[in-house]
Amino acid sequence: MNIKAPRGTYDIYGPELRLRNKLIQRIYEITENYGFYPIQTPMFESQELFVRAVGSDTDVVSKEMYEIIDKKDRKMVLRPEITAPIVRSFIENKMYASTEAQKFAYFGPAFRYERPQAGRFRQFHQFGVEYLNADDVSCDIEIISLAHSILKHFDIVEDTTLNINTLGDKEGRKAYTDALTTYFNNHHDELCDDCKTRLETNPLRLLDCKVCSKKEFFNGIPNIIDYVSEQSRADFERVCRNLDNLGINYVVNPNLVRGLDYYNDTVFEFVTNEARSQNAILGGGRYDNLVSDMSNKSSKCVGFAFGVERFESLIDKAHVAQILELDKHIQTDIYFAPMNVEAQDMVMKMIKELRDGGLVCEMPRAPRALKKQLQHANNIGAVLVIIIGEEEIKNNTIVLKNMISKEESILTYEEFLESIMEEGCHE
Ligand code: HAM
Repeated sequence: MNIKAPRGTYDIYGPELRLRNKLIQRIYEITENYGFYPIQTPMFESQELFVRAVGSDTDVVSKEMYEIIDKKDRKMVLRPEITAPIVRSFIENKMYASTEAQKFAYFGPAFRYERPQAGRFRQFHQFGVEYLNADDVSCDIEIISLAHSILKHFDIVEDTTLNINTLGDKEGRKAYTDALTTYFNNHHDELCDDCKTRLETNPLRLLDCKVCSKKEFFNGIPNIIDYVSEQSRADFERVCRNLDNLGINYVVNPNLVRGLDYYNDTVFEFVTNEARSQNAILGGGRYDNLVSDMSNKSSKCVGFAFGVERFESLIDKAHVAQILELDKHIQTDIYFAPMNVEAQDMVMKMIKELRDGGLVCEMPRAPRALKKQLQHANNIGAVLVIIIGEEEIKNNTIVLKNMISKEESILTYEEFLESIMEEGCHE
């Protein structure tokens, strides 16, 4: 077969997916400590949602969306991110009817048609949180604190740096954009071709240009903090003060603007300390205007998302397995060793009852030599082995072998059930 997974995608299975599932489950638990409820939205949405929410000038929308024309000629896209869908859901499900905090956590795939490379996929997975009705700066702090708690739980916070910045409110951002435009126009000849276009469409985008940011003239660009309103500045100072208070290290990076247009005021990113091209692990910020831009309601919001693949590339899997108390392989409690077909048929009934009762049980696909079966039981770490052959069927008994103490006993299956109900199956 010559059919391969699409470029920029991958398969994940076996112990690796088991670890990821457990990891995600633990991260959900951490978000629960902060009062976040899970949410799931569709993987495809109308194209218009992202054009309006994320911005038509952003790379994500203008270059990277997977577009689908459905059978009724509607323009749909595979979601490139999950904040806009949650805002859509907030509006559609009238969650704005309550002024209480609405806090959601999510995990799922997102799709971007980017050039694949290490840490950059076309289908990747995001874990994120969105805090809606977040009408105080304390919510920004709570969100950053949660991101920090997740990284800390898996012992990777020291491998990252938290960059933060403020983008100010609409007016401040406009004043800053004008100042940037003037500045970059004065250096027009030095700009790369992409930045010449960006200067026309969205001057803020120049700040994260990998080419121009290395040039001399970049050192003199205006600093956003000099253009934002008093309120934005005070809010930002409060964020910084509280991060100090919480002992969360950060770097104020005035060039951090994020690649999506919906942000205002606080923006932040955790990046890896290791030099690599895809160094952004987790990014987020405040987006107070998105709900009102999309509807006639308003709600101030803040959130973040991280790339699960990039997160996983930072963790030490063996160490994380320990944190999650997860054995590399499924630990078998009882291995059944039937010696003939009749015994195997009996075993299938016994095993179902025990599995339904919560025990991990295994059996061969067909009766085999006892030596082979014991070897298999050993390989999968079974604690107990139950052997049933002709003799046992005749006498209505089983042979119970303890793989740790190596003791063997002959008893009825009912006696065995009683003993595991009393003592469990571990030594
Ligand atoms: P974003 O910075 O575009 O923000 O993406 C968040 C994270 O997704 C990135 O930091 C990165 O780890 C991961 N990521 C993005 N693109 C790829 C890719 N092609 N391959 C692998 N990983 C990738 C957002 O999406 C916002 N919705 C975050 C947010 C939530 N802001 C407020 N609430």
